[in-house]
This record gives sequence, structure tokens and C-alpha cells, in this order.
Amino acid sequence: MKIIAPSLLAADFGKLKQEIEMVNQSQADWLHLDIMDGVFVPNISFGMPVLEMIQKYSTKILDVHLMIVQPERYLNEFQRLGANVITVHYETCTHLHRTLQQIKDLGCKAGIALNPHTPVSVLSDVLYLADLVCLMSVNPGFGGQKFIENTYKKTKELKKMITELKTNTQIEIDGGVNADNISLLSEAGADVLVAGNFVFKSETPLQVIQELKNKICYCNF
Ligand code: DX5
Ligand code: ZN
Repeated sequence: MKIIAPSLLAADFGKLKQEIEMVNQSQADWLHLDIMDGVFVPNISFGMPVLEMIQKYSTKILDVHLMIVQPERYLNEFQRLGANVITVHYETCTHLHRTLQQIKDLGCKAGIALNPHTPVSVLSDVLYLADLVCLMSVNPGFGGQKFIENTYKKTKELKKMITELKTNTQIEIDGGVNADNISLLSEAGADVLVAGNFVFKSETPLQVIQELKNKICYCNF
């Protein structure tokens, strides 16, 4: 089963509860939550009090994407606030092996995100600990950016690595995902497709989520 994960960053925060309820009613499987600290990325998004409300109203798997330095300081807190998947950036973790282990010890799925400039080859010695690898298809920090085409190549490389190393890792694509690129991305090996602006800025988000889901390709590459 492949997964659509709307990114709440693009939602209207003036009506957050309705936006979460829209996702609850939709064909989406996960809800993607972007946590930004203004240090690792040039933007600050939202934090604990907002997550508390999201946990209260959402019925979906909470996919927490930490774009923060020293993420290990907050793992317990994110788990307490309902995170099912916790993804940390490769670029922020000096002791990535330990951090992944800590996430798993909390009972969460552990994810590693890679910036567009970071090659998938850096993952070879930790892939067995990663339930998910998030390939950033834009530079992290903002929604609504243009999809970076090199992501297709990285997705195929990562899929090959996962097959060779026989791990159960899911591939997530984050940034600029829309109805035009979702088929090719899933064909290349993507399992989880994050979409922010394409869903929330549409007049008909429920139909858009359905459209994305219908365009997912299940063929092997
Ligand atoms: C970017 C975030 C993404 C973003 C996706 O830093 O990690 O999750 O919200 O938004 P769109 O789909 O609008 O590019
Ligand atoms: Zn994200």
C-alpha cells in the first residue's frame, strides 16, 4: 500500500481543526507535520502547543519531520505528543545511529531525511535501522517550491540500495509533489508521497487527495 501524506504546513491555520478534519475524512493515510527551528532551516513553523491540538483532532498516522538542530533533545516530547513516525535530518545528526535507535526505543518508526545535495550513498551503514528515508525534493524550509528533477534518479538509487541490503525501508518524497509527478515518483520506488500546497491550496482538497491516490503507480521499476 502506498501512502499520501498531506503536509499541514500549507493549511489555513485560522481553521486548523477543520483542515485536520478534512484530512481525517480523506483518502490520505498519514498527516505530515513540518517542525522548523529557524536554525537548520531559514524558517520557523509550529511547535508543541499546536501538536497537542493536532494529536487531539487527527485520526491519521502522524508523520513528524524534524528540521531542527540536535533533534535528539526533543524525541521524548514528540513521542508524547503522538508522533508515530519521527524523521530526523542526516545533516543534523552527529550520532545518527544512536538517534535512530532512540526513536525506535520510543516505539516510533525512525526516518532519515536527506537534503537535495546529500547523496543516498551516505546511508549504507544505517539503512537497516531506518523504517523510512525521506528524500527532500526541494530545499527544506518552505512549502510551495518547485520540484527538483534529480529526485527521480535518487529515488531509483535508493530503491536499488534497499533491495540489495534487503531492508524494509519506505521511501518518502517531500516537496513539490503534484498530480504531474506522482506517477513517475511512485514508479521509481516512492512509497510515501507528501503534498502540501497541491492539496491545501486547492478549492477541492478531498478530490485532490483522491486524484493523487489514483495516480499512484504500483508497477515495479
Ligand atoms: C519543506 C517541507 C515540506 C513542505 C511540502 O521544508 O518539509 O513537507 O511542507 O510542501 P509542498 O508540497 O507545498 O512543497
Ligand atoms: Zn516535510
